[in-house]
Order: sequence, then C-alpha cells, then structure tokens
Amino acid sequence: MSSNSIERTLSIIKPDAIERQLETKIKKIFLDNKLNIVDSKKVQLSKKEAEEFYKVHQTKPFYEKLCSYLSSGPIIAMILDGENAIQRNRDLMGATDPENAKDGTIRKVYGISIDKNSVHGSDSLINAKAEIDFFFS
Ligand code: CMP
Repeated sequence: MSSNSIERTLSIIKPDAIERQLETKIKKIFLDNKLNIVDSKKVQLSKKEAEEFYKVHQTKPFYEKLCSYLSSGPIIAMILDGENAIQRNRDLMGATDPENAKDGTIRKVYGISIDKNSVHGSDSLINAKAEIDFFFS
C-alpha cells in the first residue's frame, strides 16, 4: 500500500471538551486540515460500553479510571477520512499527555490532563476499523 493512501479513522471528542463546548472549534481543526467528517454522532456510553471500546487497555493500571471517565458524560464520535488520516489525526491531536504535546496541537491547546485530554484518535488501521465499527455499524 502506498504511504499516501486515503484512510478512515475514528475520532472522539471527550467529555471534558464537550462540557466546555469545544465541538465546533475541534471540528474546524479537522476540516481546515483536509480531514473530512464523514459521520458524527453524540452519544453517552455506559461503563460497560466504554470497557468494550477501550479493551486494548484492559491490562493497564489506568483502565478503570479511563472507562469511568469516558462514560461520565456525552461524547462525539466521528469518522474522519483523508490522506493518511490516521497519522494526520494523531499529529493534530498531539501527545497523549497535554504537558508533552507540541504547541498548537489539540491536546496542548485544550487538554487539561492525561485523562481529560479532550480527544481520542485511532492508532492503527486495524484499530480504526474496529473503532469505527464500534460506533457506526
Ligand atoms: P486515548 O488516546 O483516548 O487512549 C487511552 C487513554 O488513556 C489516553 O487517551 C489517556 O486519556 C488515558 N490515560 C490515562 N493514563 C494514561 C497513561 N499513563 N498512559 C497513557 N494513557 C493514559
């Protein structure tokens, strides 16, 4: 596969960003950077659904807190598409911990902490497909 393939990825605007009414600002960042928003929906996951979504992290010490947090309020799940969408979305988001994220990235600008880091994005083709199916199948 070429390194410039059109991909789809899953993006989530997390509860901390929805609470601060950042939906429009964050969506504009994607659109301004040529990531199309193919579909978008606002949902609130149950704790069980959050555990299913984040099951790749189930052995991590922060799993319980992570799942409680994701299910603590409404979120927006989106399918983004564009050239190299998975990596480009991750570049726009910045490092997981906002303290370590580069200037200008979403997490640097809007993130509050490693838990309340405003956005999630798929990290690989295989996870993007599974995460899109989770919300949009
Ligand atoms: P996200 O990209 O949604 O993927 C898993 C989430 O776990 C991550 O963002 C963080 O919000 C959260 N998290 C909490 N603690 C940690 C940690 N020590 N390392 C990585 N992720 C963490």
